[in-house]
Amino acid sequence: MPSKPCRICGDDTLHPFLDLGEMPIANAFLTADQLRQPEYKFRLRTGFCSHCLMVQLIDVVDPKMLFHDHYAYYSSISRVMDRHFAGLAELIGESLLYDRELPLYEIGSNDGILLEKLARWNPNAVGIEPSTNVAEVARNKGLTVVGEFLTPALANELAAKYGRAQLVVGGNVLCHIPDLKELAKSLDGLLDEEGVFVFEDPYLLEIVTQLAYDQIYDEHVYYFSVSSLSRLFESHGLRLFRVQPIPVHGGSMRVFGCRAGSRRPTESSVGDQIELEQENGLGAPEAYTVFAERVAQSRQSLIDLLGNLKREGKRLIGYAAASKATVILNYCGIGPETLEYVCDTTPTKHGLFTPGTHVPIVPIETFAADYPDYAFVLAWNHLKEIVEKESAFASHGGKFITHIPTARVV
Ligand code: TYD
Repeated sequence: MPSKPCRICGDDTLHPFLDLGEMPIANAFLTADQLRQPEYKFRLRTGFCSHCLMVQLIDVVDPKMLFHDHYAYYSSISRVMDRHFAGLAELIGESLLYDRELPLYEIGSNDGILLEKLARWNPNAVGIEPSTNVAEVARNKGLTVVGEFLTPALANELAAKYGRAQLVVGGNVLCHIPDLKELAKSLDGLLDEEGVFVFEDPYLLEIVTQLAYDQIYDEHVYYFSVSSLSRLFESHGLRLFRVQPIPVHGGSMRVFGCRAGSRRPTESSVGDQIELEQENGLGAPEAYTVFAERVAQSRQSLIDLLGNLKREGKRLIGYAAASKATVILNYCGIGPETLEYVCDTTPTKHGLFTPGTHVPIVPIETFAADYPDYAFVLAWNHLKEIVEKESAFASHGGKFITHIPTARVV
């Protein structure tokens, strides 16, 4: 079957390399009633474009099915993320803002975890967030949030109403936007002549080297390298001038950009990172074929480990009903026969079931009330934070399991 054209450059040079199978929407947690109804599923496959170097989903889900009035992800769930955004706000406030009068915009401002910190540096901080439930949480903190998807038309409207931006920022949002050409047009409409944009997204080189295949799901349409992103921006009159690897979401890249003609010089970090990507083979399809083979081995290691523990009669649970959990459980075929439940801190997920695999989701307190033998951490990016705060589990003889790059007891 011929592959689809590349979503970015339109060429027929998209090499499919990984097929994670029929997948439900990662955050479409189910009520007990919905368990009896058919679930929406799509084929979760990725491709690499050898022309523009963009790694991407081959089939995408309509964003309106993903970001709506009951979006399940609240950014403020993690203390580590809160500290991370405090650091980002400080960096922006101290070194990037240059005019107290000009506004700044955050795309995908969620419940305001970053926006509230930015608003302390600049009172004209405006959030753009189409998921109305999380946007409402931010508004209740007194923040200004526009409850729509960013489009070039909205960008022009905002620029006319609040002014052009000295800064546009987005944490884990760029990779969620299927039409990046439109996004580039929106940036063009929003940015002041010397305005800066800062985006942080899961980083392709980390995904490939760590085997983090569970970063791949419906919301993440793209898996960026600095090489692919800089080409994309350059074809739209924009330019990356600095990149900085950051540890969040299991390994992300923070990119800083501006208009192509801006006075800001391009720093050496951009070229250095592109060179590193080339050394690691990210510019050719072979690296992705090897990645896919290693992902299949990783899956088998998890199936074997959990299967052996079950046969020994151990009690197993899942810890954190993250989006990644949906990918891991469906791709590896793990359901209620293996995990008694998945516990999670998000109240709106309690009483629901994991998409596709139907494991009940319970409050975190259920875990401590009757410790199992093993807790499989389904958000490996938070492993350190979880192990630290659940030290009582280890004192009771409990053990954590993680699965990246291969399954093991920690
Ligand atoms: P995260 O990896 O941030 O999200 P996603 O894969 O959805 O992008 O994980 C978020 C989920 O993890 C969220 O449902 C809350 C849960 N969680 C806990 O239950 N306990 C914790 O200590 C942490 C850090 C997260």
